[in-house]
Amino acid sequence: MLEAQDIRKAYGGVVALAGVDLTVRPGTVHALLGENGAGKSTLVKVLVGAVDPDAGVLRLDGRELRLRSTADAVDEGVAVVSQELSLFPDLDVLSNLFPMRESRRGPLVDRRQMAERARPVLDELGLAVALDEPVEHLPLDQRQLLEIARALVTDPRVLILDEPTSALHAEATDRLHDVVRRLRARGVAVVYVSHHLEDVLAVCDEVTIMRDGRVAVPAAPASSLTVDRIVAHMLGDKVAAIVEERSHTGAVAVDPSAPALRLERVTVRGQLREVDLAVPCGRVVGLAGVAGSGHRAVLSVAAGVLRPDAGRVVLPDGAPLKGGIRGAISQGVAIVSGDRKRFGVMLDKPIWDNVGQVGSVALRRDGSFVRAGRLRERAREHVARLGIKTPSVDQEVGALSGGNQQKVVFAKWLEAEPSVLLLDDPTRGIDVGAKAEIYNLLRGLSDRGAVQIVASSDPRELAAVCDEVVVFYDGRICARLTGRHLDAHTILEVMNTGVPPAELPA
Ligand SMILES: Nc1ncnc2c1ncn2[C@@H]1O[C@H](COP(=O)(O)OP(=O)(O)OP(=O)(O)O)[C@@H](O)[C@H]1O
Ligand SMILES: [Mg+2]
Repeated sequence: MLEAQDIRKAYGGVVALAGVDLTVRPGTVHALLGENGAGKSTLVKVLVGAVDPDAGVLRLDGRELRLRSTADAVDEGVAVVSQELSLFPDLDVLSNLFPMRESRRGPLVDRRQMAERARPVLDELGLAVALDEPVEHLPLDQRQLLEIARALVTDPRVLILDEPTSALHAEATDRLHDVVRRLRARGVAVVYVSHHLEDVLAVCDEVTIMRDGRVAVPAAPASSLTVDRIVAHMLGDKVAAIVEERSHTGAVAVDPSAPALRLERVTVRGQLREVDLAVPCGRVVGLAGVAGSGHRAVLSVAAGVLRPDAGRVVLPDGAPLKGGIRGAISQGVAIVSGDRKRFGVMLDKPIWDNVGQVGSVALRRDGSFVRAGRLRERAREHVARLGIKTPSVDQEVGALSGGNQQKVVFAKWLEAEPSVLLLDDPTRGIDVGAKAEIYNLLRGLSDRGAVQIVASSDPRELAAVCDEVVVFYDGRICARLTGRHLDAHTILEVMNTGVPPAELPA
């Protein structure tokens, strides 16, 4: 049994934990929920020795624990999958799975032994990768699975998962949940932090809800809660502006000559085959598919990151897309990515600087002193609008909670007022309340005529925000869902089978 008692932690004036108790019992899955910035990750870091609390006690089976590092925690049988991925990009898969072991025993000694331990864990998670593949070549979802595998190979008694599924497709999430259930049956204690409330409620036994650094609901039985009640507890007296689903009544007629972002017979070897796609101004089009089906490649092509082998991309104003991400930005194309560590933010720079970053690349305004003052003011507006939890816009982005970092990515691109907005799992790690606000902002952008393309691993998100969802299978478009066909269940079914709903008009 792992117990935390009266844990406190402040960063300067920011109180992240104001006296938190948590008890996690063996053979149970304990959900730890709360809005962005509530203190979940800070508590997790204290439980695994990554953060030294200002006060409070940890106990394992009644014995007081003094953890000086996450390595200490692993030795005690406490393993963590952190929210921000922490793999070594230039090392291969196997070396990442056994980071500490390897440095202790030397790299060549027991690679074979390590591989023998790694294989079953990777298979269980459905992660089909070569053990000598450098991690930097893996897509975000595979890197996230690898983080989970790294915790599992230590054979923990307590496993702490901080938003482990934020980049995973439904199928991978299901597989992880099977693993979690098996661990529970073996008596492992699991702490599970997530904003996917329905998913987590399906797998957990107990729920603790945090709010503003405190426990709002301690260890309630999951059977006593619903998603609605959890949301109410998470947001407290803040009004829950939960998004109403778009009403998808009948297909919307689209004028074929209206300005649109067009992909014309785009082929990318091994990824896309002669794809034709037009996304008219003012529409939100979703891209769905299983990994490798081509939907993400479309986003990369439209962002100028991936060059087509044949075909071309034409912007709404008729100009062909320039190559390279900078070229695309200068043409008003923005990409909001859930992979924020790679594309999204400068962690060591203040919020205001991040928010102003794109504007200054695209427009080259100078007069830096004046600009900084104005950008601070603009940044303050975004902070208020998106509810970014921070003491000031001078705070470094790296000091924000994961979900609040993702909101900064949004602020940055909203500030640039793009005419084409490409969204790649845009709300990764964002809580329900802020999601609703972001969906509203996206609708505002489409009312002003922006083209929006959303790729998401969450079919519910696609159904909620898109006017149309284009489903990819094996590098081609296999269905376009609108109107009454546009719901999460149909999306999931079509992306897995490649077969459009039978009654769809051809
Ligand atoms: N290193 C740090 N320096 C300054 N403030 C920090 C630091 N780490 C966390 N905080 C602050 O502590 C508070 C709690 O953050 P924490 O990361 O625990 O939130 P969270 O519940 O995990 O949120 P999310 O759902 O967005 O991941 C936030 O206000 C955050 O800005
Ligand atoms: Mg967090």
